[in-house]
Amino acid sequence: MTLRVGVIGTGIMGADHANTLHRMVSGAEVAVVADVDLARAQGVADGMPGVRVAGDGFSLIADDSVDAVIIASHDSTHATLALAAVRAGKPVLCEKPLAPTLAECVEVVRAEQGAVGAAGVPLISLGFMRRFDPGYVQLKQALAEGICGAPLLIHNISRGVSSAPGATDESSVTGSAIHEFDVLPWLLGSPIIEVSWQAPRGSTLAKGFRDPHLMVLRTADGVLSTLEVFLNAHYGYDVRCEIVGEHGTLALTEPARLITDVNRGRTVGYPADWRPRFADAYRLELQAWVDALTTGAPTPLATARDGLIAGAVAEAVIRSMHEGGRVVPVDVPVV
Ligand code: NAI
Repeated sequence: MTLRVGVIGTGIMGADHANTLHRMVSGAEVAVVADVDLARAQGVADGMPGVRVAGDGFSLIADDSVDAVIIASHDSTHATLALAAVRAGKPVLCEKPLAPTLAECVEVVRAEQGAVGAAGVPLISLGFMRRFDPGYVQLKQALAEGICGAPLLIHNISRGVSSAPGATDESSVTGSAIHEFDVLPWLLGSPIIEVSWQAPRGSTLAKGFRDPHLMVLRTADGVLSTLEVFLNAHYGYDVRCEIVGEHGTLALTEPARLITDVNRGRTVGYPADWRPRFADAYRLELQAWVDALTTGAPTPLATARDGLIAGAVAEAVIRSMHEGGRVVPVDVPVV
């Protein structure tokens, strides 16, 4: 069976997912794409013979030639589109975040509860692709093997070249820091239970919001994690993670694949955005999603509930931001 996938939102991520599905994932094909910017959707369809453009996301979901849906449109659209797909009984891979507010996350999880797709797979999978990144996978494995001893501290850095238009203090948390809110509990096997937020003097390159942000996250096992999110770091896309344990440290290597030695100097390059850094993760995530839907293989993807838990952490961080940086407990709603 070839899974016919519809992609909603054909900006940077949606175009990348469509391209990866088309060229590198077996068992699936891109059938239909949609974007409020029709020309952008048409541009993606033009590069893939046989792909049609739907008028909007809802008609794509209703289209009989679409078996499963990828939601890669703006964060603010995720909940409404995911709810429409659940109502139509169609499996969804929704980009992170599940929704920018915890209330919307609750609504989506509630709607999905009990609903299972044809292959017995949860209807909603969430695009927390770091779980598929070979570096993070090795980090988790090394941690589990006790190579650095019991973990004490984790230092996380998430930097980009420049923020997208419309970035706010809150969207730095719900759109960017959200990756660490998922990957840290996944690495440690322990939930984030309390958080606090601080910011230094803001970069003059960030317009209309504070940048960078610094967060401290405590997991139930007593490990403390720091997280710097700096969307306008200018020099390149750079994600780091270092675990400090009782016997040593574990860290992701620098992403560069090329070291240049010239003129008595050494340089490594940084990517301009996340696509080259996480290309393997996006491909492996898409393949795992397709495999689960076509063969009933157990799904290793993050679930809507994982999105809700990350959303609860985001809400606590935003509360700390608005309340002078105080330590705020994470309250995950019972759904
Ligand atoms: P983008 O701005 O390049 O693309 C978003 C596209 O969605 C635009 O083409 C826009 O016209 C379209 N759109 C907006 N509202 C729509 C609607 N109601 N129906 C159909 N199309 C609509 O943004 P980007 O960077 O591609 O991000 C898309 C999503 O992917 C976001 O939710 C973002 O948080 C997520 N993302 C995930 C990453 C990851 O590593 N997992 C990395 C970057 C983004």
